[in-house]
Amino acid sequence: MEKVIVTEGLTKYYGKARGVVGLDLEVRKGEVFGFLGPNGAGKTTTLRLLLDLIRPSSGKAFVLGMDTTRHSVKIRARTGYLPGELSLYDRMTGEEFLRFFARLRDGVDWGYMEALCRRLEADPSLRISSLSRGNKQKLGLIQAFMHRPELLILDEPTSGLDPLMQQEFHRLVEEAREEGRTVFISSHNLPEVEKMCDRVAFIRAGRLVEVVEVASLKERSLHRVEVVFAAPPPPGIFQSTPGVLRADQDGQTARILVQGSMDSLLKTLALYPVHRLVSHEPSLEEVFMTYYGVNGPPDIPETLPDRGGDRS
Ligand SMILES: Nc1ncnc2c1ncn2[C@@H]1O[C@H](COP(=O)(O)OP(=O)(O)O)[C@@H](O)[C@H]1O
Ligand SMILES: [Mg+2]
Repeated sequence: MEKVIVTEGLTKYYGKARGVVGLDLEVRKGEVFGFLGPNGAGKTTTLRLLLDLIRPSSGKAFVLGMDTTRHSVKIRARTGYLPGELSLYDRMTGEEFLRFFARLRDGVDWGYMEALCRRLEADPSLRISSLSRGNKQKLGLIQAFMHRPELLILDEPTSGLDPLMQQEFHRLVEEAREEGRTVFISSHNLPEVEKMCDRVAFIRAGRLVEVVEVASLKERSLHRVEVVFAAPPPPGIFQSTPGVLRADQDGQTARILVQGSMDSLLKTLALYPVHRLVSHEPSLEEVFMTYYGVNGPPDIPETLPDRGGDRS
């Protein structure tokens, strides 16, 4: 199996502040790979290391079989990269911005680029400084996709996009997958990543926690249910309900974490007068708490111990 991205003990400290630590990652050719973690986990740091925009403190990264610190020019030519922050180029119009990137790359098909603009409803005639966050994001995506690169590295690609444009983005990723290209997507949104990705790496506090097949993640499918009873039910009514991982009862209200089918929970609830019920997907934080214990993975220091020397 060909590996498109490989990192070996990849570590980045900003001075003493932790970026990522000891990251071992493998992304296979042709897969859509999610890189999931809460804010500050180290996603952007990792992506910037892959593009050689910053240098590792230790460890190595290989993209398309090439060492990132030695072949960044070749890597970038064959990769589409959407940065997390698109603050530059404010004085250009969208078209100037896209032509600028097209010139850096061989064989950009202008017709394909126009199709991308139409599909994402981007108006390239406008000055970038006048665009909303979502419309800037569209230009960033078009820039990343326009040369049909064999590898896409996308930092929070749907942030700022409205739901219709998110769907169009999902179709673009699907097309890339069908063409056998590889997509690496960072996100803090688990439901979205579940929809698009084959595998997901969880990162927290700079460390890789787990890499899972999305299919197996779905089997763990968690829901948070909040029930308001018409009158307080007896305590402990969920104790032997299959699927209930945790239940906190407080008077008339119960907060319940369910895994898998809701059938048993609903049958338990049906024995009592229910006033109101809300069910939603748990936050990423809750998923982490459930999978990795209350304290998450073993504690990782946010800063390096002071060794007396100047590290930065
Ligand atoms: N330029 C920087 N200087 C110092 N610390 C940084 C810098 N960039 C990121 N960090 C720190 O590195 C950690 C990881 O950040 P980042 O990679 O941006 O996380 P994510 O993209 O997952 O939100 C955070 O604690 C952040 O504060
Ligand atoms: Mg980020």
